[in-house]
Amino acid sequence: MSSCTHLFLLLPLLLLTITFLSPATALSSINPGGGHHPNATQSSTSSYQTYILLVNPPPSIDTASENEHGLWHESFLPSSLTGSGEPRLVHSYTEVFSGFAVRLTNSELSLVSKKPGFVRAFPDRIFQPMTTHTPKFLGLNKDMGFWRGVGYGKGTIIGVLDAGIYAAHPSFDDTGIPPPPAKWKGSCQGSGARCNNKLIGAKFFAGNDSGDDIGHGTHIASTAAGNFVSGVSARGLGMGTAAGIAAGAHVAMYKVCTIVGCATSALLAGLDAAIKDGVDVISLSLAPFKSLRFDEDPISIGAFSAVSKGIVVVGAAGNNGPKGFLANDAPWILTVGAGSVDRSFRVLMQLGNGYQINGEAFTQVSNSSSKTFPLYMDEQHNCKSFSQGSVTGKIVICHDTGSITKSDIRGIISAGAAGVVLINNEDAGFTTLLQDYGSGLVQVTVADGNIIKKYVLSGSKAAASFVYKNTLLGIRPSPTVASFSSRGPSKYCPGVLKPDILAPGLNIIAAWPPVTNFGTGPFNIRSGTSMSTPHISGVAALVKSSHPDWSAAAIKSATLTTSDATDSNDGPILDEQHQRANAYATGAGHVNPARAIDPGLVYDLGVTEYAGYICTLLGDHALATIVRNSSLTCKDLTKVPEAQLNYPTITVPLKPTPFTVNRTVTNVGPANSTYELKLDVPESLKVRVLPNTLVFSKAGERKSFSVTVSGGGVEGQKFVEGSLRWVSANHIVRSPIVAVAGLGST
Ligand SMILES: *[C@@H]1O[C@H](CO)[C@@H](O)[C@H](O)[C@H]1NC(C)=O
Ligand SMILES: *[C@@H]1O[C@H](CO)[C@@H](O)[C@H](O)[C@H]1NC(C)=O
Ligand SMILES: *[C@@H]1O[C@H](CO)[C@@H](O)[C@H](O)[C@H]1NC(C)=O
Ligand SMILES: *[C@@H]1O[C@H](CO)[C@@H](O)[C@H](O)[C@H]1NC(C)=O
Ligand SMILES: *[C@@H]1O[C@H](CO)[C@@H](O)[C@H](O)[C@H]1NC(C)=O
Ligand SMILES: *[C@@H]1O[C@H](CO)[C@@H](O)[C@H](O)[C@H]1NC(C)=O
Repeated sequence: MSSCTHLFLLLPLLLLTITFLSPATALSSINPGGGHHPNATQSSTSSYQTYILLVNPPPSIDTASENEHGLWHESFLPSSLTGSGEPRLVHSYTEVFSGFAVRLTNSELSLVSKKPGFVRAFPDRIFQPMTTHTPKFLGLNKDMGFWRGVGYGKGTIIGVLDAGIYAAHPSFDDTGIPPPPAKWKGSCQGSGARCNNKLIGAKFFAGNDSGDDIGHGTHIASTAAGNFVSGVSARGLGMGTAAGIAAGAHVAMYKVCTIVGCATSALLAGLDAAIKDGVDVISLSLAPFKSLRFDEDPISIGAFSAVSKGIVVVGAAGNNGPKGFLANDAPWILTVGAGSVDRSFRVLMQLGNGYQINGEAFTQVSNSSSKTFPLYMDEQHNCKSFSQGSVTGKIVICHDTGSITKSDIRGIISAGAAGVVLINNEDAGFTTLLQDYGSGLVQVTVADGNIIKKYVLSGSKAAASFVYKNTLLGIRPSPTVASFSSRGPSKYCPGVLKPDILAPGLNIIAAWPPVTNFGTGPFNIRSGTSMSTPHISGVAALVKSSHPDWSAAAIKSATLTTSDATDSNDGPILDEQHQRANAYATGAGHVNPARAIDPGLVYDLGVTEYAGYICTLLGDHALATIVRNSSLTCKDLTKVPEAQLNYPTITVPLKPTPFTVNRTVTNVGPANSTYELKLDVPESLKVRVLPNTLVFSKAGERKSFSVTVSGGGVEGQKFVEGSLRWVSANHIVRSPIVAVAGLGST
């Protein structure tokens, strides 16, 4: 990858997933830069770098002719080969925008950028690479009315941009799936791709083949739209029928990542092909390594093109937790956080004092070995510094500090330990992310770990036994926000609530290739917002399937306003510390697919509104970069301040003087519908909504209302949350209201 010298490392969930679940050593050998220094290899071997050039074809170029368009792109190149004999042109783009990826030196770039039609150059950035039960958890039961009613998403196409696909997996069998719709222009390439009516496309823009060496792409694609496969488990865990959320939909894989990473130039090429081929939903379980302003981020720009053509773009919020940044956060993207599932791969740890701890283990063993063993804990309890011989026949207590690897655990077991109890790191709290570290490992929450540590410290005869319970369902509370799920606010659009929504992302079972360096199939367990994203892509396909004419914004609105604000205990959704989760963790709430297909009202948004918003946020240059429609100028467009964007969630400044936002809803339910306002806001917030009844007499009718908010908040409080609901005889349309101290009013 000599051309990719400008490493601006963007950390995809792929990497994070691998980081969480695989030996860290595998990672550092993949990524000599360590994955943390954006400029790490900037001054390396070649002076050629790959740039992505965005250009603006003159009217004399017929952009409908791919050939003419491509030739015009080539006219920018100083020569067809670089001095070192590599082709200069890496990819040509016609759908995400007019442009191309090209190998140039710095001085060549400055010459090329003087040519007529040049708009902007972006350095290529490397994104370092880093279910059986969840449909049921989301209320989807095979043969149940509504899921079958929408044909499990029949007729829609989900394009997955990821690490390739293991096409021979039974999840991609096409039993019961009709041929793709006539609009489909895609195809299958590569030895790994065996196209059928389920897997209708497989192309590669990275590597040599559309196959999946990592497993990530196969897992994601099957979560979104895998067919029903009965009697499956991940090594005995979670036995049941596996299915994607849109089990009847078609899948197209665009391979844009290999083990060395996902280059922006390849990602854009995948996006370009997906738009051209005619997908309905694009699923992006990949995230950059830092926030980028929307007009400086080719992925935000490409996603805008997709959305303006009616394609729903679903992106992972990132695995950076409460302290990190939020990814894929442009308002036109549907940004997905991750939550837990009501399932536990349980190991009961019985302490000698009679106390029982609910642990979990990826590797379950038979109960016959469940003898009682003494507990061992050294001073550091970090499992790096135990003395050989001291652990033989004992259960070793380790506190995860983030650096414990598979080889640490295996080392303890091979030194003769009877088992290892791994206590979550403090930040993870109640989020137990299962590690595939082999038998003998039991994982516990921080709270349970503290009980165990106290017991060990209380006396000299501490002992315990393990009882393996395999898979338990109905675990409460669920869902909870997973510790790794990235939190809002968005850096560049703080006035739009992000992430948008929560979906299952913790210990998800889905399809896996037979053998990879990161685990074996046919089913495997993975965690991350990588895993929650395809759940939402599947839901978007279900909604699209029942409402083929809806815009991307309408589908997003349907998904958000019908989501659940409460958990299985009917209380508010909790976070990884079992504290009440705030809106920056949950977005609108936890997805509820059955309700999403019938939302009653939608908050719609079109290109013109987004354009007016981009003008207000970033100005004319950004409009030309992101929207690229020469008949639109900021001067002529109605300005749309962030708070006024017709988004299905409401974010306003927290201040004593009243601040008003307007919203417009479209009736997509019964023609004659009357909605009454219900407000749920804390006392410190004063909210007035006008009118407070919306009466519709036609389908497609639009009604506007205003929301005026004032409040002082409590000293030191950064934001105050509430919600409004429009309630009719058969629909509830809920929007969170977040009032934020210090938020500008644009
Ligand atoms: C990386 O390079 C950019 C531009 O050359 C510079 O502004 C930035 O400070 C550098 N970052 C680091 C971490 O060195
Ligand atoms: C491409 O194929 C060649 C030969 O089959 C192989 O050596 C090489 O590792 C492959 N490259 C990638 C990126 O998969
Ligand atoms: C262990 O025993 C429990 C009952 O005590 C049972 O529910 C569980 O299935 C057994 N686990 C295995 C792996 O056999
Ligand atoms: C550009 O914007 C104008 C005005 O809104 C619209 O009529 C036209 O269809 C747009 N062009 C494209 C290519 O989207
Ligand atoms: C909101 O709507 C009201 C009534 O139509 C209008 O007077 C006001 O200017 C609107 N406010 C904004 C910010 O668009
Ligand atoms: C809606 O109500 C009006 C007046 O009550 C009635 O004339 C009309 O038929 C109703 N429309 C539908 C679709 O029920």
